[in-house]
Amino acid sequence: MAADTAYTLDQFLSDTRATIKTKGVPSGLAEIRDHLEKLLRNPELLKKHLGDPVPYRERTTIGHDPETDVHVLVHGREKGGKSVPHDHGPCWVIYGNYKNPTRMRRWRRLDDGSEPGHAELELQRDFLNEPGHASVFAVGDIHSIEYGDDTFFLRVTGGDVETKKTLRFDLEKKTVQVADRAQGQR
Ligand SMILES: [Fe+2]
Repeated sequence: MAADTAYTLDQFLSDTRATIKTKGVPSGLAEIRDHLEKLLRNPELLKKHLGDPVPYRERTTIGHDPETDVHVLVHGREKGGKSVPHDHGPCWVIYGNYKNPTRMRRWRRLDDGSEPGHAELELQRDFLNEPGHASVFAVGDIHSIEYGDDTFFLRVTGGDVETKKTLRFDLEKKTVQVADRAQGQR
């Protein structure tokens, strides 16, 4: 698979731009996921964009296409961790694991959002996003992540999630809050 190992970040951004132009979103998201899975098979990717040896950094943007506003981020976690259930505001997001898996949970919202601050979630799917694999979260999808030590994953977003307002949920209290990521809330 020499062609696959040579697949670069620039090729990914260019293929993704073509997919968005021809198929649009959300129709093209599955195809963008396939592009990302090709990129995950590039063994030099992180060395090239982060350095050698590859450093653990919570969040690094390695690519951005101004035309489509697609961002490519790398998350490198030395220690295991997890997130609460959240959405990504107005953005779609594709998570692809590079080294070690992330446990992904998808959640369905049961209430209609009419009571301020209240939210009830039901677990919809619970799976491992293994290295080399990517998972699509369309605008509005709710998920949480959990990973062990030494985990690297890529996150491709339509728009810059880290400047947006997103929802974060508390399962036990059955509450929802708006997190303004531009203010460092998440
Ligand atoms: Fe997320």
